[in-house]
Amino acid sequence: MEIVMEPRRMQEIAQGWRRQSSSVGFVPTMGALHGGHISLVSQARQHNERVVASVFVNPTQFAPHEDLGRYPRPFERDREMLAQADVDVLFAPTSQGMYGVPSLEEWLRSAHAFVEVSRLGEVWEGAVRPGHLRGVATIVAKLFNVCGPTRAYFGEKDFQQLLVIQRMVSDLLFPLSIVAVPTVREQDGLALSSRNAYLSAEERAAAPVLFRAMREGARLVQDGERDVAALGRAMQEMIEGQDGVKLEYLALVEPLGLEPLQVLEQPGLARVLVAARLGATRLIDNAPI
Ligand code: PAJ
Repeated sequence: MEIVMEPRRMQEIAQGWRRQSSSVGFVPTMGALHGGHISLVSQARQHNERVVASVFVNPTQFAPHEDLGRYPRPFERDREMLAQADVDVLFAPTSQGMYGVPSLEEWLRSAHAFVEVSRLGEVWEGAVRPGHLRGVATIVAKLFNVCGPTRAYFGEKDFQQLLVIQRMVSDLLFPLSIVAVPTVREQDGLALSSRNAYLSAEERAAAPVLFRAMREGARLVQDGERDVAALGRAMQEMIEGQDGVKLEYLALVEPLGLEPLQVLEQPGLARVLVAARLGATRLIDNAPI
């Protein structure tokens, strides 16, 4: 596995692959890799001649009060995991390399182009974390321009992010396709996340309530419940009944524009989105219902 830090060098490699008509699978990450990331890489490996994974903790998607400074960066371990997963190139740029400036503050102060998806980027995560999905769309557009993928792999774990990227790719005619990969979970249902490492033992024990609540919602629908408000209440009560978990939002939405549902007409065409705080840690999850 080759490690590339320079965007220009990565572009040259990608251009060489394109000349050979090789298909390129791309998995963007912020590192601190786990089984969820590796499941994206495995899919990319199965379906493409070349595989690039990027590790870059993107400063423009973190608000000043968020966890950019303490975000885990176990680079050696990430490198080993990606080599094991048979990645061809690990792209690991610096902030200076990707933005020409070292910090979010300087980026915002200077003239800069960005990508923003309206509506979809403003609700739910976009409302709680203003600027977050703009930072994500912008860095992903830049990474696409550098890595030149045929297919790029995103987890359903970050469902709104996945939709924002799909919308960006289709509206701006990026010449690639997006592949959505199902959420990988622990045995007890907790979705794998780099941020799970922040949880104390008590918080870790409480965290699977998010999954249990969504599963309970799905069960109620299977038993015939169609009242969106009643479903929402049942899931909300379950989460709020768990000590140490502070629910931020829980919503039943249609899975294209993420608009709240009034009625559940066709089960299977709805999604539950949930966000909660456990101490200082913020977790998000979602599931079809
Ligand atoms: P990161 O949180 O590192 O996630 C990288 C990719 O892994 C995303 O597509 C995410 O949805 C996926 N992923 C995370 N946990 C998963 C799980 N349990 N099961 C399946 N997939 C999972 O998301 C980002 O980084 C950044 O916003 C990024 C897209 C790299 C832009 O900076």
